[in-house]
Amino acid sequence: MRTELTERLGIEHPIIQAGMSAEGGPALATAVSGAGALGTIGSIGAGPDVLEQQIKRCRDLTDKPFSVNVVTFDWAPFGQQLLEVAIEQQVPIVTLSFGNPLPSLERCRAAGVKTLVQVQDLESARAILHAAPDALIVQGNEAGGHTGRRGTLNFAAQVLDLAGNIPVVLAGGVGNGRGLAAALAMGAAGVVMGTRFKASEEFADGGPPESAAVLRWQKDAIVASDGSNTLYDEILDNAYGLAWPNQVTGRALRNRFTQEWEGRHEELRQKVAAEPPFAFVQGLARSPETAINWAGESSGLVDEIKPAAQIVAETVQQAEQLLGQVAARTGSAPA
Ligand SMILES: Cc1cc2nc3c(=O)[nH]c(=O)nc-3n(C[C@H](O)[C@H](O)[C@H](O)COP(=O)(O)O)c2cc1C
Repeated sequence: MRTELTERLGIEHPIIQAGMSAEGGPALATAVSGAGALGTIGSIGAGPDVLEQQIKRCRDLTDKPFSVNVVTFDWAPFGQQLLEVAIEQQVPIVTLSFGNPLPSLERCRAAGVKTLVQVQDLESARAILHAAPDALIVQGNEAGGHTGRRGTLNFAAQVLDLAGNIPVVLAGGVGNGRGLAAALAMGAAGVVMGTRFKASEEFADGGPPESAAVLRWQKDAIVASDGSNTLYDEILDNAYGLAWPNQVTGRALRNRFTQEWEGRHEELRQKVAAEPPFAFVQGLARSPETAINWAGESSGLVDEIKPAAQIVAETVQQAEQLLGQVAARTGSAPA
């Protein structure tokens, strides 16, 4: 499946595995890249040393292109330092998201690193298109993790009309080949999938043993979800004591923590502020029933924990089949 995205990035399939904090580590990224899509290591949640080790690990495991995701809101922990590590290590591709990614885009470009930027609103899309990234990722509200307020399809359609020759990639709600086919049919150059790859065998493989049970529970909860039990609410950030930029909030699966705190922003903010940094969220993380399970509505499309390479192969196969059927059904020959 060739698109402007695969051409520009030197990959075989127009699928990007989302950077998912430092947890989405080298095992997942290199399994995805090895399968011909673009694997990504996340960086938020750990320090520069961990990122450097993870980049080196990716290099040991694959010679295919992979990406490093850096979160660019001003007060993101270690934000700029993480970007500098990625540049020093000469990673092939960097993916930026949130806040103001423009200075980081310029920094990457000056260093000769291919750069993808994920945006959540139209104003940012216009500004980033003007700066001509290697691709623009349009992220809709259905997404897992942090996201904006726009629905994926109509937001992407608007941006596609503005994008000229810059490849546009859809993120948010894509969990299988139907989403990929829809994205390509509307003119996008590919998709990002996060939630689907969180429920892969490789996600967070190699993490601390004490988190293994929580993680297994989280993946099982994504499999069990029909897509209707996610929550988009500030309490998810209040639990960390972090404020994300305007119009950006987290989406996660409902659980005992969300049941207890949904909508009680101010109360939770005050409780968390009275405790040492990150103590509250670390307390939540100890139990599977309270740990924040970042995941989006595409949870409803996840029916099994699978190896990442199988997810890539099945997604491509289903999209190819569907696009062929569309051409046959509508009497339109593929271009
Ligand atoms: C578990 C999880 C963690 C995420 N962490 C990050 C992150 O660290 N940086 C980032 O830019 N986006 C992050 N995202 C959002 C993704 O970049 C992407 O937009 C989203 O996963 C796409 O929607 P989907 O979950 O429906 O596939 C995360 C998403 C999930 C599910």
